Amino acid sequence: MDLSRGVLVTGADGQLGTALCEQFADVGVVALSRAQWDVTLPPPRGLPEVDLVLHAAAWTNVDGAEASPQDAAAVNVGGTQHALELGAPLVLFSTDYVFDGRKPEPYLESDAPNPLSVYGRTKLQAEAAAGDDAWIVRTSWLHGWTSTNFVRTMLRLGAERDEVAVVDDQRGSPTYVGHLAAAVRRLLDLPRGLWHISGGGDCTWAEFAEAIFEEAGVDCRVRTISTAELDRPAPRPANSVLRSERADAPTLPHWREGLRACLGKLGPRD
Ligand SMILES: NC(=O)c1ccc[n+]([C@@H]2O[C@H](COP(=O)([O-])OP(=O)(O)OC[C@H]3O[C@@H](n4cnc5c(N)ncnc54)[C@H](OP(=O)(O)O)[C@@H]3O)[C@@H](O)[C@H]2O)c1
Repeated sequence: MDLSRGVLVTGADGQLGTALCEQFADVGVVALSRAQWDVTLPPPRGLPEVDLVLHAAAWTNVDGAEASPQDAAAVNVGGTQHALELGAPLVLFSTDYVFDGRKPEPYLESDAPNPLSVYGRTKLQAEAAAGDDAWIVRTSWLHGWTSTNFVRTMLRLGAERDEVAVVDDQRGSPTYVGHLAAAVRRLLDLPRGLWHISGGGDCTWAEFAEAIFEEAGVDCRVRTISTAELDRPAPRPANSVLRSERADAPTLPHWREGLRACLGKLGPRD
């Protein structure tokens, strides 16, 4: 795809937005944080014309969305509609939380979504708003070197405590934003439509936490608990492993390799 006029990234300060800005730096990036464009509003005037919009802005507070469904929809659905107003081809990022988690095997693009949470419902509505003419990338369990994510939270807690309690009855595929951003670049030579792109392999959150402590050399025990014990406002799918059934789908390195890449980017810890 010709990107000679550059790309525009929404939510450029988020963990994925940051990785996309880095990945596409060579073609020129119009990087817009929430302060520069609140996507619940129409696009600001005077933006340069670009060849592609990478729409990474989203309401990602899964539990917070339960209490503020309209605000979450304004960002996730309204924001997608506004991003389309730019008139350039769009990549929308969606989520494993569009599924209910009852399938025992990995979820494919042809599986029927049935979101359990407000967040999942707003992202599914965002997919519909983006339409067939967009690349819709469903991904899962993102982590990167900025913003709030499970890896950074575990490193913080692991430095403060001897033990953390983590759920072991939700299974998914952790995805490193650097690997995902590189795959998005490859995706632009493939047809538009729905694509599942996540880190290779799968694990539970507790297994992920153990791997984080092991790879980072942090001396902290993981005590496994159930989702019911954690008692969060938003229900989450028990299984949300994503796989693609599409020919030529970009595949990512194993999640553990993604974790090592993320830790390397985070740099040495005290
Ligand atoms: N995180 C995951 O595990 C995960 C899993 C699957 C799919 N996804 C999807 O992947 C995409 C990127 O997520 P992420 O993990 O990078 O999330 P993130 O780190 O929370 O980044 C989202 C960005 O969107 C910004 N934003 C929020 N409301 C906005 C608004 N009204 N206008 C403009 N910007 C706004 C946020 O700014 P503030 O920081 O100022 O709020 C933040 O910079 C999202 O579409 C998300 O749904 C994420």
